[in-house]
Amino acid sequence: MKLCDLDDVEEGSSNGFFLERDGRMESFMVIRRDGEVFVYVNSCPHIGAPLDFMPGKFLNPDKTHILCSSHGALFRIEDGLCVSGPCPDQSLTQVKVAVRDGGVYLSA
Ligand code: FES
Repeated sequence: MKLCDLDDVEEGSSNGFFLERDGRMESFMVIRRDGEVFVYVNSCPHIGAPLDFMPGKFLNPDKTHILCSSHGALFRIEDGLCVSGPCPDQSLTQVKVAVRDGGVYLSA
């Protein structure tokens, strides 16, 4: 199931996408860093809110972490672990993907 084109997300940046899965519309964030692609469900472990106040903007100003705009939680890009904020030691839900032919696909 295709989530987006790789070109929809600039290297070192993020973007957000909606996809219907199991009959439900779900929101995902895609982050590209150092040639890798990371995808998480767009739901903060604190209270389940979407993280992006500005659509598609998921990174802190330094682009070192994923930022939840609601209460400022910071998550590691590589594994989604909360390292600062109101949900310590909780993690974003990572989504396994495959990148091929210029597209980002959810793994079965
Ligand atoms: S909803 Fe994300 S830090 Fe509160």
